Amino acid sequence: MGRDQVFVTRELPPKMLGKLAEHCDVEVWDEFLPPDYEIILDKIGGLAGLLCLLTDRIDAQLMDAAPDIKVISNLAVGYDNIDIPAATQRGIPIGNTPGVLNETTADFAFALLMATARRIPEARQYIHDGKWLTWHPTVLSGQDVFGATLGIIGCGRIGAAVMRRASGFGMRVLVNSLESADEIQQLGGEKVSLDELLSQSDFVSLHVPLTEETHHLIGERELKQMKPTAILINTARGSVLDPEALYTALRDGEILAAGLDVTEPEPIPLDDLLLSLENCLIVPHIASASVATRTKMAEMAVDNVIAGLRGQALPTCVNPEVYQRG
Ligand code: GLV
Repeated sequence: MGRDQVFVTRELPPKMLGKLAEHCDVEVWDEFLPPDYEIILDKIGGLAGLLCLLTDRIDAQLMDAAPDIKVISNLAVGYDNIDIPAATQRGIPIGNTPGVLNETTADFAFALLMATARRIPEARQYIHDGKWLTWHPTVLSGQDVFGATLGIIGCGRIGAAVMRRASGFGMRVLVNSLESADEIQQLGGEKVSLDELLSQSDFVSLHVPLTEETHHLIGERELKQMKPTAILINTARGSVLDPEALYTALRDGEILAAGLDVTEPEPIPLDDLLLSLENCLIVPHIASASVATRTKMAEMAVDNVIAGLRGQALPTCVNPEVYQRG
């Protein structure tokens, strides 16, 4: 029997690729941009394993073209790029990389919160534009973070890590999520309705996965409920937020500012109106991008592939139901 074939849709740290290559034949897509859908479709028929990224759409058509696939491993904690029900139906285990990125992502959500609150990008630009002529009592004044009210929508692992940071800033934390009021209280927060959270928070930070229910969860109605001094932070997925409604809210001063690590679509086109706004800080989906965390994510993704090839349960499996089938 020949060795299993595995396709990796982007360069990973050499150490991780070396580890994978001990178990199978590895083909790596070594271009900077992701492979087109058709390229994956073309290759998948001969694959036992696929290690993909959140930029790769993995749907039922691809799975149907992959009779020998034993594992699909996503190098991300989120997996909205993969049709999970279709994978489960076909008995294909899907791996992801939860846990290791919680603190790194929470750090970054807080970094966006601080940067927008205290207008750091604008202040940098101010100097580059030659405007720093003197100390001035009102110029570039922002919002206090200490003692403010933070609304967290979605209190899973990352939302809870953001809450821990908020306690150091003496913030009151309101939470809207599926966890019980007791669980949230133990984490130092207060469970409230979405409407209460939006109307009372000085900062709102999004930490829900993208699903049919959370698609455009924050739209015109929700933005209108927020304070005109409120700041919205999104490190979840771009489509949790309606970008047109956000543009209007930021332009018309319905909210004060936004800090976005994720956009709809990604990458954001350079002519997107959100990029024209001074009160919208946008960065290119880098919340988990510390060297240490991205290395650990790559290792987890590789370990999921290796387990799948061996017919073992994936260490971090999104659809463990596949192991309960007869
Ligand atoms: C990044 O967005 C991830 O889901 O890991």
